[in-house]
Amino acid sequence: MSAPYPQHPVGGFSILAISGSIGYTFAMKILGIETSCDETAASIVEDGETILSNVVASQADLHAQYGGVVPEVAARSHIEVMLPVVESALSEAKIEWDAIDGIAVTHGPGLLGSLLIGTLTARTLAELKHKPLYGINHLEGHVYANYLAADTKPQFPYLALIISGAHTQLVIFKAHHDYHLLGQTLDDAVGEAFDKVARILGLSPTQGGPAIAKAAINGNDRAFPFPKAKTDQKLDFSFSGLKTAVLRQAQELAGGGFRMPSFEVHKKLSQQQISDLAASFQRVAIETLVDHTIKAYEEYHPKSVVIGGGVAANQLLRDELAKRIPIPVHFTATNLCTDNAAMIAAVGYHYAVADKSISPARLRVEPTLSM
Ligand code: KG4
Ligand code: ZN
Repeated sequence: MSAPYPQHPVGGFSILAISGSIGYTFAMKILGIETSCDETAASIVEDGETILSNVVASQADLHAQYGGVVPEVAARSHIEVMLPVVESALSEAKIEWDAIDGIAVTHGPGLLGSLLIGTLTARTLAELKHKPLYGINHLEGHVYANYLAADTKPQFPYLALIISGAHTQLVIFKAHHDYHLLGQTLDDAVGEAFDKVARILGLSPTQGGPAIAKAAINGNDRAFPFPKAKTDQKLDFSFSGLKTAVLRQAQELAGGGFRMPSFEVHKKLSQQQISDLAASFQRVAIETLVDHTIKAYEEYHPKSVVIGGGVAANQLLRDELAKRIPIPVHFTATNLCTDNAAMIAAVGYHYAVADKSISPARLRVEPTLSM
Protein backbone atom coordinates (compact mmCIF):
# COMPACT_ATOMS: atom_id res chain seq x y z
CA MET A 1 0.00 0.00 0.00
CA SER A 2 3.01 2.29 0.50
CA ALA A 3 3.94 4.45 -2.44
CA PRO A 4 7.33 6.01 -3.16
CA TYR A 5 7.04 9.70 -2.55
CA PRO A 6 9.75 11.64 -4.31
CA GLN A 7 8.35 15.13 -3.61
CA HIS A 8 9.12 14.98 0.10
CA PRO A 9 11.70 12.25 0.59
CA VAL A 10 12.23 12.81 4.28
CA GLY A 11 10.18 9.92 5.68
CA GLY A 12 11.32 6.94 7.70
CA PHE A 13 12.96 4.69 5.12
CA SER A 14 11.87 1.10 5.28
CA ILE A 15 12.26 -2.09 3.32
CA LEU A 16 9.15 -3.91 2.20
CA ALA A 17 8.82 -7.42 0.80
CA ILE A 18 6.51 -7.33 -2.23
CA SER A 19 5.40 -10.63 -3.79
CA GLY A 20 8.50 -12.42 -2.67
CA SER A 21 10.92 -9.75 -3.92
CA ILE A 22 12.44 -6.97 -1.89
CA GLY A 23 11.40 -3.40 -2.74
CA TYR A 24 12.18 -0.06 -1.15
CA THR A 25 9.44 2.22 -0.05
CA PHE A 26 8.75 5.13 2.24
CA ALA A 27 6.49 4.61 5.18
CA MET A 28 4.82 7.99 5.05
CA LYS A 29 4.00 9.49 8.41
CA ILE A 30 1.44 12.28 8.51
CA LEU A 31 0.69 14.38 11.59
CA GLY A 32 -3.05 15.10 11.73
CA ILE A 33 -4.52 18.04 13.67
CA GLU A 34 -8.25 18.39 14.37
CA THR A 35 -9.99 21.22 16.25
CA SER A 36 -13.26 21.76 14.37
CA CYS A 37 -15.50 21.62 17.44
CA ASP A 38 -14.76 20.76 21.08
CA GLU A 39 -12.08 18.08 20.72
CA THR A 40 -8.41 19.06 20.51
CA ALA A 41 -6.76 16.18 18.68
CA ALA A 42 -3.44 15.20 17.13
CA SER A 43 -2.41 11.87 15.65
CA ILE A 44 0.34 10.24 13.64
CA VAL A 45 -0.75 7.83 10.93
CA GLU A 46 1.47 5.81 8.63
CA ASP A 47 0.46 5.32 5.00
CA GLY A 48 -3.12 6.40 5.65
CA GLU A 49 -3.94 3.23 7.57
CA THR A 50 -1.75 2.51 10.58
CA ILE A 51 -2.29 4.61 13.69
CA LEU A 52 0.96 5.28 15.56
CA SER A 53 -0.69 7.61 18.07
CA ASN A 54 -4.13 9.13 18.50
CA VAL A 55 -4.48 11.80 21.20
CA VAL A 56 -7.87 13.42 21.87
CA ALA A 57 -8.42 16.01 24.61
CA SER A 58 -12.19 16.29 25.00
CA GLN A 59 -13.82 19.43 26.37
CA ALA A 60 -17.17 17.65 26.96
CA ASP A 61 -17.05 18.16 30.74
CA LEU A 62 -16.24 21.84 30.32
CA HIS A 63 -19.29 22.46 28.13
CA ALA A 64 -21.71 20.22 30.06
CA GLN A 65 -22.41 23.01 32.58
CA TYR A 66 -23.65 25.26 29.73
CA GLY A 67 -25.85 22.57 28.13
CA GLY A 68 -23.95 22.66 24.82
CA VAL A 69 -20.70 23.73 23.16
CA VAL A 70 -19.86 27.42 23.74
CA PRO A 71 -17.66 28.53 20.78
CA GLU A 72 -15.55 31.05 22.75
CA VAL A 73 -14.90 28.55 25.55
CA ALA A 74 -13.97 25.91 22.97
CA ALA A 75 -11.46 28.19 21.21
CA ARG A 76 -9.80 29.19 24.48
CA SER A 77 -9.49 25.60 25.58
CA HIS A 78 -7.94 24.61 22.22
CA ILE A 79 -5.26 27.27 22.73
CA GLU A 80 -4.39 25.87 26.16
CA VAL A 81 -3.96 22.24 25.14
CA MET A 82 -3.06 22.31 21.42
CA LEU A 83 0.74 22.14 21.70
CA PRO A 84 0.81 19.59 24.55
CA VAL A 85 -1.56 17.41 22.50
CA VAL A 86 0.76 17.59 19.45
CA GLU A 87 3.75 16.78 21.67
CA SER A 88 1.90 13.79 23.15
CA ALA A 89 1.08 12.52 19.65
CA LEU A 90 4.79 12.58 18.77
CA SER A 91 5.94 11.00 22.01
CA GLU A 92 3.27 8.26 21.96
CA ALA A 93 4.32 7.42 18.40
CA LYS A 94 7.94 7.45 19.67
CA ILE A 95 9.14 9.61 16.79
CA GLU A 96 10.85 12.97 16.34
CA TRP A 97 9.89 15.79 14.01
CA ASP A 98 12.33 14.70 11.30
CA ALA A 99 10.30 11.50 10.80
CA ILE A 100 7.14 13.47 9.96
CA ASP A 101 6.47 13.78 6.21
CA GLY A 102 3.60 16.26 6.29
CA ILE A 103 0.96 17.99 8.39
CA ALA A 104 -2.77 17.57 7.68
CA VAL A 105 -5.20 19.90 9.41
CA THR A 106 -8.98 20.33 9.39
CA HIS A 107 -9.78 23.69 7.79
CA GLY A 108 -13.56 23.25 7.70
CA PRO A 109 -16.40 22.82 8.30
CA GLY A 110 -16.65 23.71 11.99
CA LEU A 111 -16.59 26.53 14.52
CA LEU A 112 -14.58 29.52 13.27
CA GLY A 113 -12.58 30.13 16.46
CA SER A 114 -11.84 26.44 16.93
CA LEU A 115 -10.72 25.97 13.32
CA LEU A 116 -8.46 29.02 13.60
CA ILE A 117 -6.49 27.52 16.49
CA GLY A 118 -5.84 24.23 14.68
CA THR A 119 -4.97 25.81 11.34
CA LEU A 120 -2.74 28.49 12.89
CA THR A 121 -0.89 25.79 14.80
CA ALA A 122 -0.48 23.65 11.68
CA ARG A 123 0.59 26.58 9.50
CA THR A 124 3.18 27.67 12.05
CA LEU A 125 4.55 24.15 12.52
CA ALA A 126 4.69 23.62 8.75
CA GLU A 127 6.81 26.77 8.39
CA LEU A 128 9.06 26.08 11.37
CA LYS A 129 9.63 22.40 10.66
CA HIS A 130 9.66 22.71 6.84
CA LYS A 131 6.84 20.23 6.25
CA PRO A 132 4.24 20.17 3.47
CA LEU A 133 0.80 21.25 4.68
CA TYR A 134 -2.58 19.78 3.68
CA GLY A 135 -5.94 21.47 4.34
CA ILE A 136 -8.51 18.75 5.01
CA ASN A 137 -12.32 18.67 4.92
CA HIS A 138 -13.48 17.30 8.28
CA LEU A 139 -16.30 15.35 6.58
CA GLU A 140 -13.85 13.61 4.27
CA GLY A 141 -12.04 12.65 7.47
CA HIS A 142 -15.12 10.83 8.80
CA VAL A 143 -15.18 8.78 5.58
CA TYR A 144 -11.44 8.00 5.65
CA ALA A 145 -11.69 6.80 9.25
CA ASN A 146 -12.81 3.62 7.49
CA TYR A 147 -9.28 3.06 6.14
CA LEU A 148 -7.86 3.00 9.67
CA ALA A 149 -7.41 -0.24 11.56
CA ALA A 150 -9.69 -1.91 9.00
CA ASP A 151 -9.38 -5.52 7.79
CA THR A 152 -10.86 -4.70 4.39
CA LYS A 153 -10.82 -1.40 2.52
CA PRO A 154 -13.85 0.20 0.82
CA GLN A 155 -13.99 -0.41 -2.93
CA PHE A 156 -14.65 2.43 -5.40
CA PRO A 157 -17.21 3.55 -6.28
CA TYR A 158 -18.57 3.68 -2.77
CA LEU A 159 -21.51 5.35 -1.12
CA ALA A 160 -20.70 7.26 2.07
CA LEU A 161 -23.24 8.14 4.73
CA ILE A 162 -21.74 10.88 6.93
CA ILE A 163 -23.73 11.32 10.12
CA SER A 164 -22.47 13.58 12.87
CA GLY A 165 -23.58 16.26 15.31
CA ALA A 166 -23.49 18.87 12.57
CA HIS A 167 -23.96 16.98 9.30
CA THR A 168 -26.09 14.35 7.61
CA GLN A 169 -24.94 13.68 4.06
CA LEU A 170 -24.94 10.99 1.39
CA VAL A 171 -21.91 11.23 -0.90
CA ILE A 172 -20.75 9.06 -3.80
CA PHE A 173 -16.97 8.55 -4.07
CA LYS A 174 -15.74 7.49 -7.53
CA ALA A 175 -12.06 7.69 -6.52
CA HIS A 176 -9.87 9.53 -4.03
CA HIS A 177 -10.56 13.30 -4.43
CA ASP A 178 -13.45 12.58 -6.82
CA TYR A 179 -16.81 12.66 -5.09
CA HIS A 180 -20.14 14.44 -5.16
CA LEU A 181 -22.93 15.15 -2.75
CA LEU A 182 -26.21 13.26 -3.32
CA GLY A 183 -28.29 14.57 -0.43
CA GLN A 184 -28.06 16.32 2.91
CA THR A 185 -30.18 17.54 5.78
CA LEU A 186 -32.27 20.63 5.19
CA ASP A 187 -32.40 21.50 8.90
CA ASP A 188 -31.07 19.61 11.96
CA ALA A 189 -28.31 17.01 11.59
CA VAL A 190 -29.27 13.58 12.89
CA GLY A 191 -26.73 13.79 15.76
CA GLU A 192 -28.12 17.20 16.67
CA ALA A 193 -31.62 15.64 16.83
CA PHE A 194 -30.29 12.90 19.16
CA ASP A 195 -28.65 15.58 21.33
CA LYS A 196 -31.75 17.81 21.48
CA VAL A 197 -34.12 14.93 22.23
CA ALA A 198 -31.74 13.70 24.95
CA ARG A 199 -31.91 17.14 26.54
CA ILE A 200 -35.73 17.22 26.34
CA LEU A 201 -35.81 13.79 28.03
CA GLY A 202 -33.33 14.93 30.70
CA LEU A 203 -30.82 12.24 29.67
CA SER A 204 -27.60 14.10 28.90
CA PRO A 205 -26.57 17.72 28.32
CA THR A 206 -23.96 16.67 25.74
CA GLN A 207 -23.39 13.47 23.72
CA GLY A 208 -27.10 12.65 23.54
CA GLY A 209 -26.64 9.79 21.07
CA PRO A 210 -25.27 7.20 23.50
CA ALA A 211 -27.74 8.35 26.20
CA ILE A 212 -30.74 7.87 23.88
CA ALA A 213 -29.46 4.48 22.73
CA LYS A 214 -29.09 3.38 26.37
CA ALA A 215 -32.54 4.63 27.45
CA ALA A 216 -34.11 2.99 24.37
CA ILE A 217 -33.03 -0.49 25.49
CA ASN A 218 -35.89 -0.60 28.02
CA GLY A 219 -38.40 1.17 25.78
CA ASN A 220 -41.13 0.17 23.33
CA ASP A 221 -40.02 1.53 19.96
CA ARG A 222 -43.64 1.39 18.65
CA ALA A 223 -45.14 3.29 21.60
CA PHE A 224 -45.32 6.53 19.59
CA PRO A 225 -45.69 6.56 15.78
CA PHE A 226 -43.54 9.62 15.11
CA PRO A 227 -43.66 10.87 11.50
CA LYS A 228 -40.91 10.47 8.90
CA ALA A 229 -40.17 13.74 7.06
CA LYS A 230 -40.76 13.99 3.32
CA THR A 231 -38.38 16.17 1.29
CA ASP A 232 -38.61 17.38 -2.34
CA GLN A 233 -35.30 15.71 -3.22
CA LYS A 234 -35.59 12.07 -2.20
CA LEU A 235 -32.02 11.84 -0.84
CA ASP A 236 -32.30 14.96 1.33
CA PHE A 237 -33.03 14.61 5.05
CA SER A 238 -35.00 16.57 7.64
CA PHE A 239 -34.97 15.86 11.39
CA SER A 240 -36.35 19.01 12.95
CA GLY A 241 -40.01 17.88 12.63
CA LEU A 242 -39.20 14.58 14.35
CA LYS A 243 -37.53 16.41 17.24
CA THR A 244 -40.57 18.71 17.62
CA ALA A 245 -42.93 15.71 17.49
CA VAL A 246 -41.02 14.15 20.42
CA LEU A 247 -41.30 17.42 22.37
CA ARG A 248 -45.06 17.71 21.72
CA GLN A 249 -45.62 14.08 22.74
CA ALA A 250 -43.55 14.58 25.90
CA GLN A 251 -45.46 17.77 26.78
CA GLU A 252 -48.76 15.91 26.30
CA LEU A 253 -47.62 13.05 28.55
CA ALA A 254 -46.38 15.56 31.14
CA GLY A 255 -49.82 17.22 31.11
CA GLY A 256 -48.29 20.68 30.83
CA GLY A 257 -49.55 21.81 27.41
CA PHE A 258 -47.40 23.04 24.51
CA ARG A 259 -46.20 26.08 26.45
CA MET A 260 -44.39 23.96 29.03
CA PRO A 261 -40.65 24.77 28.68
CA SER A 262 -38.75 21.92 27.05
CA PHE A 263 -36.27 21.73 29.95
CA GLU A 264 -39.13 21.18 32.47
CA VAL A 265 -40.95 18.39 30.66
CA HIS A 266 -38.78 15.44 31.68
CA LYS A 267 -39.37 16.13 35.38
CA LYS A 268 -43.02 15.05 34.94
CA LEU A 269 -42.30 11.88 32.96
CA SER A 270 -41.88 8.34 34.29
CA GLN A 271 -38.75 6.30 33.47
CA GLN A 272 -40.88 4.09 31.23
CA GLN A 273 -42.28 7.05 29.31
CA ILE A 274 -38.75 8.41 28.81
CA SER A 275 -37.55 5.03 27.55
CA ASP A 276 -40.55 4.68 25.20
CA LEU A 277 -39.99 8.18 23.80
CA ALA A 278 -36.25 7.48 23.32
CA ALA A 279 -36.90 4.11 21.62
CA SER A 280 -39.61 5.47 19.33
CA PHE A 281 -37.47 8.47 18.36
CA GLN A 282 -34.41 6.31 17.73
CA ARG A 283 -36.38 3.85 15.57
CA VAL A 284 -37.72 6.60 13.26
CA ALA A 285 -34.37 8.45 13.05
CA ILE A 286 -32.47 5.26 12.21
CA GLU A 287 -35.14 4.00 9.78
CA THR A 288 -34.88 7.34 7.95
CA LEU A 289 -31.09 6.95 7.60
CA VAL A 290 -31.40 3.35 6.45
CA ASP A 291 -34.24 4.05 3.95
CA HIS A 292 -32.27 6.89 2.33
CA THR A 293 -29.08 4.83 2.15
CA ILE A 294 -30.96 2.01 0.44
CA LYS A 295 -32.52 4.44 -2.08
CA ALA A 296 -29.05 5.80 -2.93
CA TYR A 297 -27.60 2.27 -3.10
CA GLU A 298 -30.32 1.20 -5.56
CA GLU A 299 -29.76 4.24 -7.75
CA TYR A 300 -25.94 4.34 -7.83
CA HIS A 301 -24.96 0.65 -7.49
CA PRO A 302 -21.78 1.24 -5.41
CA LYS A 303 -19.33 -1.57 -4.65
CA SER A 304 -19.18 -0.67 -0.94
CA VAL A 305 -21.12 1.40 1.54
CA VAL A 306 -19.16 3.41 4.13
CA ILE A 307 -20.63 4.84 7.32
CA GLY A 308 -18.80 7.57 9.26
CA GLY A 309 -19.34 10.26 11.90
CA GLY A 310 -20.40 10.14 15.54
CA VAL A 311 -23.82 8.60 14.87
CA ALA A 312 -22.15 5.68 13.06
CA ALA A 313 -21.49 4.33 16.56
CA ASN A 314 -25.23 3.61 16.90
CA GLN A 315 -25.76 -0.14 17.24
CA LEU A 316 -29.31 -0.19 15.87
CA LEU A 317 -28.08 1.57 12.71
CA ARG A 318 -25.25 -0.96 12.35
CA ASP A 319 -27.61 -3.91 12.75
CA GLU A 320 -30.24 -2.56 10.34
CA LEU A 321 -27.81 -1.56 7.59
CA ALA A 322 -25.91 -4.84 7.77
CA LYS A 323 -29.26 -6.67 7.50
CA ARG A 324 -30.69 -4.65 4.62
CA ILE A 325 -27.73 -3.89 2.33
CA PRO A 326 -26.50 -6.90 0.34
CA ILE A 327 -22.90 -5.67 -0.20
CA PRO A 328 -20.06 -4.94 2.27
CA VAL A 329 -20.95 -2.16 4.68
CA HIS A 330 -17.90 -0.53 6.31
CA PHE A 331 -18.58 0.91 9.73
CA THR A 332 -15.97 3.16 11.29
CA ALA A 333 -14.41 1.48 14.35
CA THR A 334 -16.48 2.75 17.30
CA ASN A 335 -13.49 4.48 18.94
CA LEU A 336 -12.90 6.44 15.70
CA CYS A 337 -16.52 7.50 15.01
CA THR A 338 -16.38 10.72 17.00
CA ASP A 339 -13.94 13.50 16.16
CA ASN A 340 -10.25 12.57 16.09
CA ALA A 341 -7.12 13.55 14.18
CA ALA A 342 -6.23 10.06 12.92
CA MET A 343 -9.00 10.36 10.32
CA ILE A 344 -7.58 13.75 9.23
CA ALA A 345 -4.09 12.25 8.88
CA ALA A 346 -5.63 9.36 6.86
CA VAL A 347 -7.01 11.85 4.30
CA GLY A 348 -3.72 13.78 4.47
CA TYR A 349 -1.85 10.72 3.25
CA HIS A 350 -3.90 10.68 0.02
CA TYR A 351 -3.36 14.43 -0.41
CA ALA A 352 0.37 13.83 -0.01
CA VAL A 353 0.36 11.02 -2.58
CA ALA A 354 -1.46 13.36 -5.02
CA ASP A 355 0.92 16.21 -4.06
CA LYS A 356 -1.99 18.46 -3.07
CA SER A 357 -0.13 20.55 -0.50
CA ILE A 358 -0.97 24.19 0.17
CA SER A 359 1.32 27.01 1.19
CA PRO A 360 0.94 27.87 4.92
CA ALA A 361 0.33 31.49 3.93
CA ARG A 362 -2.65 30.47 1.75
CA LEU A 363 -4.54 28.06 3.99
CA ARG A 364 -7.87 29.59 5.08
CA VAL A 365 -10.51 28.30 7.47
CA GLU A 366 -13.87 27.50 5.86
CA PRO A 367 -16.51 27.10 8.61
CA THR A 368 -19.27 26.20 6.11
CA LEU A 369 -17.18 23.97 3.83
CA SER A 370 -19.31 21.30 2.12
CA MET A 371 -18.46 18.05 0.34
O1 KG4 B 1 -18.65 13.30 14.52
P1 KG4 B 1 -18.91 13.86 15.86
O2 KG4 B 1 -17.98 13.51 16.97
O3 KG4 B 1 -18.96 15.41 15.86
C1 KG4 B 1 -19.31 16.19 14.77
O4 KG4 B 1 -18.50 16.28 13.79
O5 KG4 B 1 -20.43 16.73 14.81
O6 KG4 B 1 -20.40 13.41 16.23
C2 KG4 B 1 -20.99 13.70 17.45
C3 KG4 B 1 -22.44 13.24 17.39
C4 KG4 B 1 -23.26 13.74 18.58
O7 KG4 B 1 -24.42 14.36 18.09
C5 KG4 B 1 -23.57 12.45 19.33
O8 KG4 B 1 -24.79 12.50 20.02
C6 KG4 B 1 -23.62 11.43 18.21
O9 KG4 B 1 -22.54 11.80 17.37
N1 KG4 B 1 -23.47 10.04 18.69
C7 KG4 B 1 -24.42 9.10 18.57
C8 KG4 B 1 -23.92 7.94 19.19
N2 KG4 B 1 -22.66 8.21 19.66
C9 KG4 B 1 -22.39 9.51 19.34
N3 KG4 B 1 -25.65 9.15 18.01
C10 KG4 B 1 -26.41 8.04 18.06
N4 KG4 B 1 -26.02 6.88 18.66
C11 KG4 B 1 -24.78 6.78 19.22
N5 KG4 B 1 -24.42 5.64 19.81
ZN1 ZN C 1 -17.14 15.20 13.18
